[in-house]
Amino acid sequence: MVKRTRKHLKTVFNSVSFKLFALLLLLLLLLFGLHSMIYSSMQTRIYEKTVGQGAYRASDLVKKSLYRLMLMNEREELYHTILIIGDEPGIESIRIYNKRGEIKFSTREAEIGKIVDMKAEACYACHAAYKPIESLSMQKKTRIYRTTEGRRIMGLINPIRNAPECWNNACHAHHEDQTILGVLDVQMSLDELDEALAQTRNTVYTVSGGIIILAMILFAILVYYIIYRPINQLRSGTLRLAAGDLDHRIDMAREDEYGMLASSFNNMATNLRNAYNELKEWSNKLSSRVKQKTQELEEMHKGMLQVEKMASLGKMAASVAHELNNPLAGIVNYSKLLERKVRNHFPESGEQKKIINELELVRSEAMRCGNIVRNLLAFARGQGADIKETSLDEIVQKAIELTRHHMELSGIQAEKKIELEEDFIKCDPDQFLQALIALLVNAVEAMPQGGKLMISAESSEKDPENVLIKVSDTGVGIPEEIRDKIFEPFFTTKKEKKGVGLGLPVVYGIIQRHHGKIWVESEPNQGTTFIIKLPAARKKMSIHESKEFKS
Ligand SMILES: Nc1ncnc2c1ncn2[C@@H]1O[C@H](COP(=O)(O)OP(=O)(O)OP(=O)(O)O)[C@@H](O)[C@H]1O
Ligand SMILES: [Mg+2]
Repeated sequence: MVKRTRKHLKTVFNSVSFKLFALLLLLLLLLFGLHSMIYSSMQTRIYEKTVGQGAYRASDLVKKSLYRLMLMNEREELYHTILIIGDEPGIESIRIYNKRGEIKFSTREAEIGKIVDMKAEACYACHAAYKPIESLSMQKKTRIYRTTEGRRIMGLINPIRNAPECWNNACHAHHEDQTILGVLDVQMSLDELDEALAQTRNTVYTVSGGIIILAMILFAILVYYIIYRPINQLRSGTLRLAAGDLDHRIDMAREDEYGMLASSFNNMATNLRNAYNELKEWSNKLSSRVKQKTQELEEMHKGMLQVEKMASLGKMAASVAHELNNPLAGIVNYSKLLERKVRNHFPESGEQKKIINELELVRSEAMRCGNIVRNLLAFARGQGADIKETSLDEIVQKAIELTRHHMELSGIQAEKKIELEEDFIKCDPDQFLQALIALLVNAVEAMPQGGKLMISAESSEKDPENVLIKVSDTGVGIPEEIRDKIFEPFFTTKKEKKGVGLGLPVVYGIIQRHHGKIWVESEPNQGTTFIIKLPAARKKMSIHESKEFKS
């Protein structure tokens, strides 16, 4: 908490607004201080000058009023008059010295007869280097000093000059050469002046203080609106941008440098947002491309494994088929020979018929084995393919015709939908028909309770070089765990000799020879779709209208 407060204070003290405010305040204090000092010292000087002039006039008045009494040498009366004048408010004391500095008269009785120090400030002005000076400037005639109680006193010396009346008078003989007879020293209290000065000073300081406070408030408001607020707005905007809020904009309707800065900031934020969006879009594209490529690679890998597996299975099947072919042909031929011999050499009887029937059974089973062997060879290496441009629609139609009986028995509706720019595909028509029939038979067998069978063909703009042929049914579907095995020879789920497991391997072998691909998509209890990808024959032709066929 203390650390945070210290950090906050440090931020405040380091801020431009605070520095400007402090500078302005310092300048203001300096100006007002200087002004107050000059003003009050000038005021003091003016006051003191005025008081000095007043005091000199008063002292002149005293001198003139005492002049006659001095001339008549009426000392008692003179002393009495000085006492009366000395009682006047503002007058501290009145003295008269003779030229030697002896106090001849004083309102303070105790001083009379004392010799003043000629080197003291009051005398020094006239008696510098012990040479009396006749005329002194007003400034030099006055002196201000402090009493032991700290009060200020203004002393004013007024020389009493020798005049013809003085040296001609019989009462006291002053020599004619003597210019100064003595000095009238009037001392006036500056209490009232000091009080007035203190009052003026107080007023000046109070007014200055008030003006400084007002100016401070004004400065604070100005600094807040002109500097702190816009800078803070810009600062918080930058912080938000740095924190990742790229949609933040600074709302500042000003046309000064701050306004320009805010609009530059907003432009920068917009550019950043666009760059970020572009980057994000690119990264999304890239990741989806990576995903797609990974999937493609996985599929390719799977396909290669499958091809490898099929190739090795094919080799084995080919050698087994080759080895079986000759003995099977021998069994068929010998069973035919035996049948003929039995027919020719044995009389017609129930026993003869039974033997002939059994020999026919041997032959048909051997022929069935022969068929299997042929299929195995067709899967393994086939007989090569006689590839030519063929109408897909015609082959599909033929396949449907050939399996129509099957479909009718199971109550299946078949539909074909050929949407190709070009109806022709590159294939060996006999082999492709065989493959299509195998797929249709499987579909029919997967829908014993009836259903829908759809044969469709399409080509996409993305891949105009190839044609996709789909055979879909609404049958039992293929469970995921056996989907990898269905193209292997002798894999079948059909019990009681109903299936050998060579239909799909043969289809696979045929599609391979056509440089195509076959794969399956299936949903258990929903249906199965076999998809064949084959190279298209030609490129541009009108779209072949879809035809519907109901079995
Ligand atoms: N349309 C389909 N719906 C559901 N399962 C299918 C479908 N087509 C193939 N299968 C599954 O694939 C297995 C293999 O099929 P394949 O055609 O190779 O052999 P088969 O049909 O069992 O026997 P046959 O050699 O007589 O064709 C089938 O046993 C079946 O389980
Ligand atoms: Mg089959």
